[in-house]
Amino acid sequence: SPVPPADIVVFGGTGDLAVRKLLPALYLRDRDGQLPEQTRIVATSRAGLDEAGYRDKIRGDLPGFVRDEDHDDAVVDRFVERLTHVSLDIADEDGWAGLVAELPDADKVRVFYLAIAPSLFGPVSDRLAAEGLVTAQSRLVLEKPLGHDLASALEINDAVGAVFEEHQIFRIDHYLGKESVQNLLVTRFANTFLEPLWNATWVDHVQITAAESLGVGTRGGYYDGSGALRDMIQNHLLQLLCLVAMEPPTYVGRETVRDEKLKVLQALKPLVGVDVDSHVVAGQYTAGLVEGEAVKAYRDDAEAPASTTETFVALKAEVSNWRWAGVPFYLRTGKRMESRFSEIVIQFKDVPHPMFPDADGVSEPNRLVIQLQPNEGMKLHLTAKEPGPGGIRLRPVSLDLSYAQTFDQPSPEAYERLLMDVVRGNPTLFMRRDEVEAAWRWIEPIHERWARPEHAPRRYPAGTTGPFAATTLIERDGRSWHE
Ligand code: BG6
Repeated sequence: SPVPPADIVVFGGTGDLAVRKLLPALYLRDRDGQLPEQTRIVATSRAGLDEAGYRDKIRGDLPGFVRDEDHDDAVVDRFVERLTHVSLDIADEDGWAGLVAELPDADKVRVFYLAIAPSLFGPVSDRLAAEGLVTAQSRLVLEKPLGHDLASALEINDAVGAVFEEHQIFRIDHYLGKESVQNLLVTRFANTFLEPLWNATWVDHVQITAAESLGVGTRGGYYDGSGALRDMIQNHLLQLLCLVAMEPPTYVGRETVRDEKLKVLQALKPLVGVDVDSHVVAGQYTAGLVEGEAVKAYRDDAEAPASTTETFVALKAEVSNWRWAGVPFYLRTGKRMESRFSEIVIQFKDVPHPMFPDADGVSEPNRLVIQLQPNEGMKLHLTAKEPGPGGIRLRPVSLDLSYAQTFDQPSPEAYERLLMDVVRGNPTLFMRRDEVEAAWRWIEPIHERWARPEHAPRRYPAGTTGPFAATTLIERDGRSWHE
């Protein structure tokens, strides 16, 4: 559907997220003709820039964050004309009048994008209301992490909920905007052959991995207070788990997919009354070699010499419902791993009866590997007969689908899709209040366990697959991580 004209206000307009992701995404939508002429972008920050200064800054920064082939000087010129900057200290009285002056049209779609710390979500909402800026056409976008734990998430949801209706609140999990993640639903539900096998009768276990080769870079300040469990598992990996495990909704609508995801989160077996350490492993990287390059330890990256923040988590979850009872879901994420890859592995059960006991080789259990990034694709691992006149030789083979080869076009960035959905008012790919809270609720016992003084993440050298305990976690069950 068409994207209406909008005033897009970005709080934190000079921050990492705005500069690296939001403005490049808006630029790309502009290039493709999706931003109407009247669409304007108002950045706020404490940087003390004027309009010209901000435009210059973004003109200079953009090329670093869009691919060369996407760069077009004429589009950049048009795009920066849409930008303006308001100097505003959120805690201060001054500056808000400047923002009010930039938003004269109460009937235009208004987007307030809070690319700032979650502790400011409530105060900014209150202030927007007090300034009379919240109109029927207003939408609030909240970046993750939504709070720090369940209590703070409830507090934020209450605070923003006192000003905005739930349908006006868009909680971003950018994984939901990835092409490959949306494709997961299509793969499952627009084909017939997977769904009959997609259950505890046929699936042995599921693995979900999001490995990064990058470290924490300049985000140490934020990251050290957060850690991988809050930064990746509570949102991105649990969302992926939901999409793998959910029941098919009758149709894809604003609430239907979110309703099904919520049911999965509610079915996660609570880590209460169990030995948390035997279900969850925390790791922290030490110095090492990543893709041939020497890199520093996390504690040096984050300038936190005694930090016990985890940069790696591996865990075992279970979805307690009829479809999935007894099927482990192994989740794993880490920074400074060997390489960057995100994938979902569905491992099926072994054949019920060995038909070829005298063959050379054995049949391996089938695996469906859904590769989310960097190269989107799908691989189905099968057992085949190696050609030859002699006895039967069983060999592993794979059916291999590469999206880049099949569809000769690059996938848009997650934020491009999500920002346009906000302007259109379509919340399907955003996290609803109850989902976020259910995810925090499930995470809580892990943080409680880790809060005890004897807890320390296990060290792993940068450039590896994580601490040895993560291998033990899965091997104890007679299984192994897909490499
Ligand atoms: C963000 C996390 O949400 O996701 C980052 O805060 C992480 O720490 C990033 O690097 C990973 O996203 P992607 O799209 O590169 O997989």
